[in-house]
Amino acid sequence: MEKQVISLEFQIENDSAALPEHDLMLLAQASEAADKANAPYSGFCVGAAVLLENGHIITGNNQENPAYPSGLCAERVALFYASAQYPGVAVKAIAITARSHHGIIDRPIPPCGACRQVMADSENRSASEMRVIMRGHTGPVMICNSMSMLLPLSFVDEYLPK
Ligand code: THU
Repeated sequence: MEKQVISLEFQIENDSAALPEHDLMLLAQASEAADKANAPYSGFCVGAAVLLENGHIITGNNQENPAYPSGLCAERVALFYASAQYPGVAVKAIAITARSHHGIIDRPIPPCGACRQVMADSENRSASEMRVIMRGHTGPVMICNSMSMLLPLSFVDEYLPK
């Protein structure tokens, strides 16, 4: 049997001021979106800001529902809205941030598995890398230069026989 190893690369930046201006701007937009989250049940407010290849920025936040599974995460709200408005336009970067009514979120918030699948499909369809920038309400910033770092071996449309 052949053993294969996948290694993942990401960056941690403790000094926000050292980040590129466009990362900070995208994080600021994600933070603004988190302020408008509809999260009365979890008290966990997530914001996402998506930078498209055409220069547009689309933001989204988590939308909860009294029938809990009917809600949707911030990342998918933003990505689906971006795709609805600008179908086929590549996503260059996404910034994700979160705050909680129940305590300080002082570390980066990586997206849930379902959001990773949607992000991976978006990256795969556009054949261009999606930069993922993650931060809690405070604390360090975590950056992955490609979505494949967050979801290796993802299920992509090539697996579906046509
Ligand atoms: N949430 C997101 O918006 N994104 C994620 O990647 C993980 C979780 C939301 C869903 C729910 O409204 C709240 O955070 C608590 O799970």
